[in-house]
Amino acid sequence: MALSVNSVIHNQWSTRMAFMLAAIGSAVGLGNIWKFPYITGEYGGGAFVLVYLVCILLIGMPVMMAEILLGRRGRRSPINTMRELARAEKTSPAWRLVGWGGVLTGFLILSFYSVVAGWAFAYVIEGAVGSFNGLDGEGAGALFGDLTDSPGRLLFWHSLFIIMTTLVVAKGVRSGLERLITWLMPLLFVLLAVLVGYAMAAGDFARGLHFLFDVNFDRVFTVCDEAGVCTFTAEPVLVAMGHAFFTLSLGMGAIMAYGSYMPHDASIGSSTVMIALADTLIALMAGLAIFPLVFANGLEPGAGPGLVFVSLPIAFGAMPGGQVFGTLFFLLLVFAAWSSSISLVEPAVAWLTEDERLSRPKAAAIIGGLAWLLGVGSALSFNVWSGEEYQVFGKTLFDIKDYLTANIMLPLGGLAIALFTGWAVGHRLPESELALRSPTLFRAWYFTIRYIAPTGIVLIFLNAIGVL
Ligand code: PFF
Repeated sequence: MALSVNSVIHNQWSTRMAFMLAAIGSAVGLGNIWKFPYITGEYGGGAFVLVYLVCILLIGMPVMMAEILLGRRGRRSPINTMRELARAEKTSPAWRLVGWGGVLTGFLILSFYSVVAGWAFAYVIEGAVGSFNGLDGEGAGALFGDLTDSPGRLLFWHSLFIIMTTLVVAKGVRSGLERLITWLMPLLFVLLAVLVGYAMAAGDFARGLHFLFDVNFDRVFTVCDEAGVCTFTAEPVLVAMGHAFFTLSLGMGAIMAYGSYMPHDASIGSSTVMIALADTLIALMAGLAIFPLVFANGLEPGAGPGLVFVSLPIAFGAMPGGQVFGTLFFLLLVFAAWSSSISLVEPAVAWLTEDERLSRPKAAAIIGGLAWLLGVGSALSFNVWSGEEYQVFGKTLFDIKDYLTANIMLPLGGLAIALFTGWAVGHRLPESELALRSPTLFRAWYFTIRYIAPTGIVLIFLNAIGVL
C-alpha cells in the first residue's frame, strides 16, 4: 500500500477505502461470529438483540464518530492524542487516562481473544482432516471438550495466534493488511450466506428466526431460580451495551488509533454508517446460521462460549462439500480475528513507537509477549484452573476478562470519550473535523454525544448495580 506522508508524526492510509477496510477488519471478528450468538443464546434472544441494535445506533455509532474525529485531529497514539487535545483545548490533563485505560483494556481483551482464535485455528485442522464428518450434537460437544481439556493444545494455538498478530503489527499498518481484508471480508460474507442457506434447508429455521427476532421482554429480563421464583434482572441490557462497544471496537482507542491515519478528505459520518452496517449484518447472519442448527440438533442455545464450535461443525459434517467449507470457514474466522487483534495492540504500539522511542518490531514484541503471558491464564481457565477454587462469583479467569472488559471497561472508555468530545472540548473541534454536510445532522449528533449516549451508559450502569 502506497503511503502519503503528509503528517510528520504519523503515516496515513493511502486511500479512504483503506481506512474503511481496516476499520471493518477491526470491527468484524470473533465478536460477531463467536460472541454475538453465544450471548444472544444466554440472554434469551429477540429482546436482547433489539436492545443491542438500539445501543449500536444511539451509543455505538455516535461514539465511533467521536473516536475517529479525535484520532484524526490528534494524529498521534490515543494516549498522546488525548493529552495534546486536552492541552490545546485547555482542559484537564487527566483525560489522557482514557488512552491509558484503552491500552490496558486492549491487553486484557487480546489475552482471551487469542485463546478463542486458537479454537478456530484448531478447527481449521479438524475440518481438513474430516473430524466433522457425520458429527451429531454429542460428538460435536466431545470434539470441543477434547480441545478445551488440553492445556497443551490451547497454549500452542494461542501462542501461534499471538505470534501472527505480533508479526503484522511489527510491520506496521501499511503492510499487506489492506489487500488481505479486501478479499477476505467478502469471502467470509459469502460463506456465511451459504451457511444461512444451509440452515434454511436443514435447520429449524422458523424457530431460529423467532428466537432471534421475537421480542419477548419477559423472557429476557426475568431470571427464575430452581424453586421457580422469578425476579427482574437488568444484566442483559448491560451485556447488550457492552457488546455494542466490543463488536464495534469502541471505548479503548483502537478506532481512534486508526482514525489518526485517516486522510482529511474522507467522511467520518458515512464511514461510520458503513462500518456499523457491515458489522451488524455479519453478526445477524451468524445468528441466522447458528440458531436453526442449534434447535434442529437439540443443542442448548445458552450453552456458553462453545456454542459456535459445537453447532457449526454438525452442519459442516452433514452438508455436501462440508469438509472444504468447514476448513475454509474456520480459516476465515482466524483471519477475521487476526485483523481485529491487530487493532487491539495498535494503541499501545503506536504510543511506544511515537517520537522514535522504540522501533515497531521491538514495541510489537514487548506487547505481544505480555499479552501472551496474560493469555496463559485464559487457556488454563478451561482445564487446570477450571475448578471452583479458581473462580470468582462463579466465573473463571477467562469469563472474568471477557465480562469485565466488554461490559465495564469499554463502556467506561466510551463514556469518557463522549464526555470529552461533547463537553470538554467545545463544539468547534468536532464540527470542523466531522464537516457534516447538513447543520441539522451535526446538531443531532452533537445532542446524542452530549446527552443521549452518556445518559444511556450511566443509566445502564446504575441499573446493573441495582441502584435504579
Ligand atoms: N470488534 C472485535 C470483534 O468484534 O471481534 C473485537 C475488538 C477489536 C474489540 C478491537 C475491541 C477492539 F479495540
